[in-house]
Order: sequence, then C-alpha cells, then structure tokens
Amino acid sequence: MVKLYNEFERVLVDEDTIQSRVTELAAQISAEYKDAGSIVLVGILKGSFMFMADLVRQLTIPHYVDFMSLSSYGTSTESGAVRVLLDLRADIYGKNVIIVEDIIDTGNTINYLHTMLNTRQPASLKTCVLTRKEDKAKGLPVDYLGFEIPDVWVVGYGLDLADRHRTWPFIAELKPEVYQ
Ligand code: PRP
Repeated sequence: MVKLYNEFERVLVDEDTIQSRVTELAAQISAEYKDAGSIVLVGILKGSFMFMADLVRQLTIPHYVDFMSLSSYGTSTESGAVRVLLDLRADIYGKNVIIVEDIIDTGNTINYLHTMLNTRQPASLKTCVLTRKEDKAKGLPVDYLGFEIPDVWVVGYGLDLADRHRTWPFIAELKPEVYQ
C-alpha cells in the first residue's frame, strides 16, 4: 500500500469531486433523453467500468448497457493502432447510443469508434468521457465531459498503467519516473 502511494505525484481528482460530477452528468443525460424512449450506453473496457457503473446507477431514464473492448496501448505507454477485442452484443441500428470512455488522450480511439459505430446507423451517437487531456485533445467531439486534465499519466477510477492502479476510487497523477 505505502509503495503504491509512493508512485503518485498527487491526487488530481478526489473521490467526492468525481462522484459530484458523475451525479451532474447523469442528471444532464437523463434530462436530455427524457423523451427518447431508451438509450444504449456503450462502455469501452476496461477503463470505463467504474465510471459506467456509477453513471448508470444515477440515470432516471430507461437504458441498456453494452460493452466493447478495444486496445490502443497494450502494456506500454506508446499509442498505436486501435484493435477491436470484443464487439457489442446488441444491434444499435436506430438506437440512441452514448459511448462511455474513461479518457481521451490522442483521440485515436474515440475517433475510430465514432466512425465505426456510425456505420451501424444508430438514431444518434454521443460521447460521455470522464477525462480529456486539455492541450492534446482539444476540439475532439465530447458531448458530456467529466474533467479536463493536464497531459500527465493518470491512474485510478478505471485508468491504469499496464493494468495497475485501476481500482483506486480517485484519479491520481503518477510520478514521471514511474512511466518514463
Ligand atoms: C485507453 C483508454 C481509451 C484510450 C484513450 O485504453 O481507455 O480507450 O486508451 O487513448 P487515445 O485517445 O490516445 O486513443 P487502453 O487501450 O489503454 O485500454 P484499457 O481501457 O483497457 O486500459
């Protein structure tokens, strides 16, 4: 435990702040889709699992969850090609769909997903993203955004470094020497 904390530079977003923002996002989505029938939330594994679980428990409109597994990083910090490891179970044709992601870094993954899912002709396609790197990813389409974050390596609340630190309830910045 102590060794893990030693790898953190600082806590960037604490647990209460995350939960308050998730409550706001769920209220916003519930209000905007209140006449839409039902919506489909597509969580991108593994990073979105905690955000998705907290978000959907606060929605007040009918909804379904589905998941995809993509990979862009493998176990290194180098951004590469997007691979689909697990596709949706359900057909999203004619559905109101929201992609749920933990982070936009280069924007590679969200751009790929947006293009790919649009070919399946959903009625609408929006994105709900917990964090976005404020300088790198400006201008990328995000309809519901949790937090702008600096361009540092962040872990916790679903985010990882080679699968480590994913289950902390807060978002922390790693010390550069841990990942460089
Ligand atoms: C991470 C993250 C996003 C993507 C963002 O996924 O969950 O999907 O990278 O990076 P980009 O904007 O540069 O494309 P990763 O492949 O690390 O898988 P994981 O969610 O299982 O950790």
